[in-house]
Amino acid sequence: MTRARPLAAGNWKMHGTSSDLGNLSAIAASAKELATIDTVLCVPATLIDRARGTGVALGGQDCHANAAGAHTGDISPLMLADAGASHVIVGHSERRTDHGEDNATVASKARAAWGAGLVAVICIGETEAEYRAGDTLSVLRSQLAVSVPDAASPSNTVIAYEPVWAIGSGLTPELPEIQTVHAAIREGLSARLPGGELIPVLYGGSVKPANADNIFALPDVDGGLVGGASLSPADFVPIMQALARQKGNQA
Ligand code: PGA
Repeated sequence: MTRARPLAAGNWKMHGTSSDLGNLSAIAASAKELATIDTVLCVPATLIDRARGTGVALGGQDCHANAAGAHTGDISPLMLADAGASHVIVGHSERRTDHGEDNATVASKARAAWGAGLVAVICIGETEAEYRAGDTLSVLRSQLAVSVPDAASPSNTVIAYEPVWAIGSGLTPELPEIQTVHAAIREGLSARLPGGELIPVLYGGSVKPANADNIFALPDVDGGLVGGASLSPADFVPIMQALARQKGNQA
């Protein structure tokens, strides 16, 4: 069966200045060696242009829903693409919380990303209260229904499942819980979109070298969206290697 191509995505969040370009180059060098997986680093927008040429794919962490306009302080997908990005994260829970972004906004941003030729990495995930109430799958279903536009395809979209309570906390769901959620996401995408089963579904939230093999071994996990552990090659390269070990023969 053809599967989505494995993807190790790093999310540097609001970390990174020119002094971190050495770390970025080291990650890029390993990415080149790991030919059976894709790697993308979503770095601060100020680093994208300076990191192009390292060979690793680059992404933004958010974009405006318009290509240009009177929106002080925002960055457009066109600008990210122009700087050298191929991807952009939309709907990260920190954006949803800090900036009040709802599912409809996330969908507009995904469409704008596509308009600029970028792959949209659309994030979904339940809060701790929703998890405890047993509402995870219904929350994710409604997020997917509205945040993922109908034109989503395996070539323009990646889904990242990130339980809000697992982000930066050192906590993760149990492995069978992750598999159940990923299988449900894939089933939903496949039922709704042509080729939906080939849209990569990443797990994110406290992925570390120590848990990466177990998480990536799950059949419906196609890779990871990694925050804290993507900042240094000492952590991120072993995670990339774990993905290559577990899923390198998948595509
Ligand atoms: P974390 O963050 O790996 O530091 O938990 C993941 C994310 O927010 O994308």
